Amino acid sequence: MKCISSLSLCFLLCLCAIQSVSSENAIVPPRGWNSYDAFSWIISEEEYLQNANILSEKLLSHGYEYAVVDFLWYRSLKGDRNSIGFDMIDEWGRMLPDPEKWPSSGGGRGFTDVANKVHNMSLKFGIHLMAGISTQAFNNNTPILDTTTGQPYTESGRVWNAKDIGIPSRACRWLNNSFMAINVTTGAGKAFLRSIYELYASWGVDFVKLDCVFGEDLDLGEITSVSEILNGLNNSIVFSLSPGVSATPEMAQMVSSLVNMYRVTKDDWDAWPAILSHFNVSRDFAASNLTGAQGLKGKSWPDLDMLPFGWLTDADAHEGPHRSTNLTQDEQRTQFPHIATLDSAKTDGIRSWIATGRNGEIYVAFFNLNDEKTTISANVVDLTIVQPGGRTLSVYEGTETWSGTLIRTNDTFSAEVAGHGSALFVLRSS
Ligand SMILES: *[C@@H]1O[C@H](CO)[C@@H](O)[C@H](O)[C@H]1NC(C)=O
Ligand SMILES: *[C@@H]1O[C@H](CO)[C@@H](O)[C@H](O)[C@H]1NC(C)=O
Ligand SMILES: *[C@@H]1O[C@H](CO)[C@@H](O)[C@H](O)[C@H]1NC(C)=O
Ligand SMILES: *[C@@H]1O[C@H](CO)[C@@H](O)[C@H](O)[C@H]1NC(C)=O
Ligand SMILES: *[C@@H]1O[C@H](CO)[C@@H](O)[C@H](O)[C@H]1NC(C)=O
Ligand SMILES: *[C@@H]1O[C@H](CO)[C@@H](O)[C@H](O)[C@H]1NC(C)=O
Ligand SMILES: *[C@@H]1O[C@H](CO)[C@@H](O)[C@H](O)[C@H]1NC(C)=O
Ligand SMILES: *[C@@H]1O[C@H](CO)[C@@H](O)[C@H](O)[C@H]1NC(C)=O
Repeated sequence: MKCISSLSLCFLLCLCAIQSVSSENAIVPPRGWNSYDAFSWIISEEEYLQNANILSEKLLSHGYEYAVVDFLWYRSLKGDRNSIGFDMIDEWGRMLPDPEKWPSSGGGRGFTDVANKVHNMSLKFGIHLMAGISTQAFNNNTPILDTTTGQPYTESGRVWNAKDIGIPSRACRWLNNSFMAINVTTGAGKAFLRSIYELYASWGVDFVKLDCVFGEDLDLGEITSVSEILNGLNNSIVFSLSPGVSATPEMAQMVSSLVNMYRVTKDDWDAWPAILSHFNVSRDFAASNLTGAQGLKGKSWPDLDMLPFGWLTDADAHEGPHRSTNLTQDEQRTQFPHIATLDSAKTDGIRSWIATGRNGEIYVAFFNLNDEKTTISANVVDLTIVQPGGRTLSVYEGTETWSGTLIRTNDTFSAEVAGHGSALFVLRSS
């Protein structure tokens, strides 16, 4: 089981089991399960639905509602991650599920049946997409569907095809045989994107993770065009950007209002250095004040990638789950709240973060990034920084989550924290 999550309040909300009831997008950071860390790209319909079912039964009540199919769902198992010619595409160059992996997709049904089943589990259905156009569609020079007429797109008295919009010199750097950018300044480029998103909306897609479009692959033109198209659809589709390699707060500023999530880290795997590297990233993106800012038809959140917990595979492996996470229990407990809290203070190897919940509770996390056990403390005076208008000092009471220790203090509170470990306090002033 693996979870997607974002910087900020998600952990608080899981604890409180608050379900989003608003029709706006991403009113809280979208949470759920993504297939990649357990199945790489080879996941089948049956495996996906089994996992969605577990998500629905075990985690939905904690706010985990998105079940997302990661990349290459359209590629035959005969291909590999960077192959050409093994993808299912329709006559208009749009990706369709590989019917061997997704048997219900035959007869032009796409993901309709899968989405219906997922919705029937009270979950939301998500898919991964690569930005631009597939090299296979480009090589076949497929026509572009004009969805307003149902005919090939024509402009300036001629029909426009894939080779009129694909830009081979801008292949996706990490899937360079398979996908390339498109020229979104052309009417045909925009029509191609519209034809894709209208098809996927008609299947019942609720969430799109668009990849090779952010961080060092930034393509603001495509992000803007897709955002405009999604904004015009009747269906609400949450729009998430990837990857986050070299993402900066300045890039976040550019895209925040156009999307609902944007990755701010590279792919996160189950190794302590990856967790460690997230602390400065979180501090820097928290400082840009964009957490929960206005986004596409709702709000927008920086995203620290998945929680690599449980039963996993390896990046790009051609096999499903076969090993447990390498993270120790202390490291998993550190990874969980570190994606959840805001506002950080630090001394060498010690970080303490604070956040407020929606019902007046205060969350305080201590992190020990050193290898040795240590005692970390804080003073209740420091809790007043998150209270509007700086409330008067009072007694705080609550619990340390991992140990269950009860806390009641008007002075200091502390915890002995294992190396790589954390403490998480949930407190209220009384
Ligand atoms: C929806 O779920 C119920 C059980 O919760 C099941 O009886 C029904 O067959 C499902 N419908 C579809 C279309 O999957
Ligand atoms: C394309 O990607 C492969 C790795 O999949 C890499 O070895 C090769 O150098 C890349 N080619 C170009 C032109 O970037
Ligand atoms: C994109 O299309 C515009 C015309 O709208 C053209 O001027 C420009 O050169 C094209 N860019 C590329 C990279 O092909
Ligand atoms: C959106 O809904 C309106 C009103 O129900 C309908 O007329 C229109 O065709 C729908 N648009 C799309 C793209 O489905
Ligand atoms: C997890 O541990 C295995 C066995 O030590 C190792 O081969 C693998 O590279 C580790 N994975 C990560 C992401 O560090
Ligand atoms: C985090 O940022 C601090 C400066 O505030 C720097 O000293 C430290 O090396 C950074 N750590 C990492 C892992 O980049
Ligand atoms: C973020 O908000 C804080 C507190 O309101 C303010 O001091 C800071 O200047 C803001 N930073 C940015 C980048 O807007
Ligand atoms: C904190 O509690 C102690 C003992 O209960 C009491 O004597 C003290 O006045 C309290 N301090 C504040 C600032 O409320």
